[in-house]
Amino acid sequence: MSNITHEIVEKNTGLLVVFIVIAISFATLVEIYPLLFDQNTPEQGGVNKPLPNMRPWTALELEGRDIYIREGCHVCHTQMIRPLRAEVERYGPYSRAAESTWDHPFLWGSKRTGPDLARVGGRYSDQWHIDHLINPRAVVPASVMPAYPWLAKNEVDGSRVQAKMRIFKDHFGLPYTESDIEAAPDQVQGATELDALVAYLQQLGIAMQGQR
Ligand code: HEC
Repeated sequence: MSNITHEIVEKNTGLLVVFIVIAISFATLVEIYPLLFDQNTPEQGGVNKPLPNMRPWTALELEGRDIYIREGCHVCHTQMIRPLRAEVERYGPYSRAAESTWDHPFLWGSKRTGPDLARVGGRYSDQWHIDHLINPRAVVPASVMPAYPWLAKNEVDGSRVQAKMRIFKDHFGLPYTESDIEAAPDQVQGATELDALVAYLQQLGIAMQGQR
């Protein structure tokens, strides 16, 4: 564009706004629109479908997820590995949109005081997590993570687990069966909040295990 045309656009706010809207609309079309209809993304199944080897959370894992939210773990930990080399080498395969299909609310987080947890499942033993959550300094001496000793004492309140599963089934499409829902209260009966949280952590990223 010549200097003189540029000047006309810059001095005419209305015209400038029109061009800005065109530029943004074009970028939106190119970046976002195809994804809404693409059934063949790297996740193999489109962005709105779960990965082939994803399974719904067990009753215990679902309760653990709520404890993760209640305790604010997502304030210090992300579950979102960006497609950057440094991240992929440290944490594992970058996060795929399809992995969050069922995650309502999503727990991507926005700040990393601690490491990303999207692939932490299977990285440590259950006992490591138990020791770490009761007192992080016992296993990582320089840790600034808070201790959560009460989780070992509190029993999981299973009174609402069936209602929660039904919400995920009816509104977010989790493939729970009636017998899954029926069996749920027994599965969380007598478990501590620590058991539930560890079960939740141990399944993070399992759908992407062995993939890059
Ligand atoms: C104030 C910030 C903060 C909060 C809140 C927090 N963490 Fe952490 N977390 C950290 C830091 C820092 C580390 C790294 C040092 C360590 O391993 O303890 C860490 C490490 C971890 C690790 C080990 C990750 C790895 O790959 O080595 C796990 C698992 C973990 N946190 C789980 C949790 C859970 C579950 C909660 C909620 C109950 C939680 N954290 C709450 C800061 C936090």
